[in-house]
Amino acid sequence: MNNDIEKVLYSREEIQAVTEKLGKQITEEYIDKNPIVICVLKGAVLFMADLAREIKTYCEMDFMDVSSYGDGTKSTGEVKIIKDLDTPVEGRNVLIVEDIIDTGRTLERLADLLHHRKAKSVKICTLLDKPERRVKGVVPDYVGFEVPNEFVVGYGLDYAGRYRNLPYVGILKPEVYENK
Ligand code: PRP
Ligand code: MN
Ligand code: MG
Repeated sequence: MNNDIEKVLYSREEIQAVTEKLGKQITEEYIDKNPIVICVLKGAVLFMADLAREIKTYCEMDFMDVSSYGDGTKSTGEVKIIKDLDTPVEGRNVLIVEDIIDTGRTLERLADLLHHRKAKSVKICTLLDKPERRVKGVVPDYVGFEVPNEFVVGYGLDYAGRYRNLPYVGILKPEVYENK
């Protein structure tokens, strides 16, 4: 599995350090605001688990499964809600946690939906931001790293369902996804 990686972009230690930093900022901002922290399945699950432990104030967690990609590397442009939230968001401060923002379609759809449901505030925390690929005007409030336009996997990010369990973020060797 590790042999399929061309280059490690962010090590476990670098991810941990940036997660601590983001957790501190989020803690300060959300003291006394009892936010609902939303994990966007499945990619954000590892980041959510680590970030939540760095949020040192009251919060709730919920999970939503929104998928815009099929099994390949290209976005289909369609955003489907596969699992909705259990918690009503009306009047609540909401923080969306993502692993990566690419075109911005997933987050735009989600943020619109939460505003429509009358959330009091909607903010976005993403581990990775790939602004080069943006087609929607989504601007995250908290960003771990800005990534180059390469196919990255690991720490929640998959290719065809694999590599989410890597403890680091790396660039996949092209031969792994070419001719597929
Ligand atoms: C990936 C990633 C983000 C989204 C970003 O999820 O985890 O949620 O795509 O792309 P976008 O900005 O172009 O919308 P994916 O749809 O692959 O589902 P997954 O998290 O289950 O892998
Ligand atoms: Mn995702
Ligand atoms: Mg995916």
